Amino acid sequence: ATAGDRRSVLPSSRPASTFLDACRRRPVAHTPVWFMRQAGRSLPEYREARGGIPMMEACATPDLIVEITMQPVRRYTVDAAIFFSDIVVPLKAIGVDVDIKPGVGPVIADPIRDAAGVDRLRLLEPDDVPYVTEAVSTLTGELAGIPLIGFAGGPFTLASYLIEGGPSKNHERTKAMMYGEPDLWARLLDRLADIAIAYLKVQVEAGARAIQLFDSWVGGVAPADYRTSVLPHSSKIFSALESYDVPRIHFGVGTGELLGLMGEVGADVVGVDWRVPLDEAVGRVEAGKALQGNLDPAILLAPWDVVAERAREVLAQGRTAEGHVFNLGHGVLPATDPGVLARLTDLVHEESIAR
Ligand code: CP3
Repeated sequence: ATAGDRRSVLPSSRPASTFLDACRRRPVAHTPVWFMRQAGRSLPEYREARGGIPMMEACATPDLIVEITMQPVRRYTVDAAIFFSDIVVPLKAIGVDVDIKPGVGPVIADPIRDAAGVDRLRLLEPDDVPYVTEAVSTLTGELAGIPLIGFAGGPFTLASYLIEGGPSKNHERTKAMMYGEPDLWARLLDRLADIAIAYLKVQVEAGARAIQLFDSWVGGVAPADYRTSVLPHSSKIFSALESYDVPRIHFGVGTGELLGLMGEVGADVVGVDWRVPLDEAVGRVEAGKALQGNLDPAILLAPWDVVAERAREVLAQGRTAEGHVFNLGHGVLPATDPGVLARLTDLVHEESIAR
């Protein structure tokens, strides 16, 4: 099918949205806001819904995906929902033995260290993730016009989990392969890019109206190495999504030195963590990009006056960008009081000036 054919299968009713407008750098009545990890352990109803169900099982159960994705939308006046899943779900779907251990993160039984390991990663077909198609379709109806953000893990971040076998502080083996076995590294990242493309297409074709590529752990890579060893693969992902006409967001933690390159790959919106003020980030990203961010999630554990003051600062700095989507600089921490997130959402709406 051509790109044009694919677009024609997208839902025909696509209501207006401040979130999509800000991503597109169009005028908005107020600054839109959503939070990375807005669904999750900070919500008592999430802990209740998950009960004893393992994370990977929850991610393959459409009713639960829909319920958990909707929970923050019921509580907060957020301008977007993010699909409840995890970056390792497509890996599991192609047969990788991966589990998410509570309090630890993704753990891979048989880490990839050689060519045979890379060759075991097969391409993802839509039939591998029927629960994703089903949940996204249901959500598109339930969200009544609030856009759903689909997502995938970035190539460096997924490679790191696969090579290290689990979470890692220094990504040592990962970088050893990147520096020492560039051909093998390129094959692995190219395969991960293809998997991300297939996974994102499933979500967009089922009704997701924006996508975010989380290359969360790429911040430890130097810009020159990012350019040679990561950028080509991320560019492939963003190019493959271009014809769908959905805003594409690109985010990583500690990526201050990479912000320009993370825009160059073809993102419409560059996510910024709390280390770089948004008015400074504007100068690091080429023209024609919106910014997303960037309140330190830990600030939400401080008294409300402090939260409000810092949020106003982010709004003021965000006004220097061509478009601004308010978010945290990383995910909501489990200890966060949902009442604070509710107040913060309202503050962002009330105190952002029309632009
Ligand atoms: O609300 C949302 O943002 C959508 C859901 C979402 C999850 N994971 C659910 C989840 C998203 C977008 C992700 C992406 C993800 N997963 C990333 C990129 C985003 C980021 O945070 O940088 C990464 C690096 C992962 C890998 C992963 N999965 C980690 C590090 C963890 C946390 C481990 C822990 O217990 O602290 C997970 C598990 C996970 N993914 C949880 C949730 C809600 C916690 C599961 C639980 O309830 O025990």
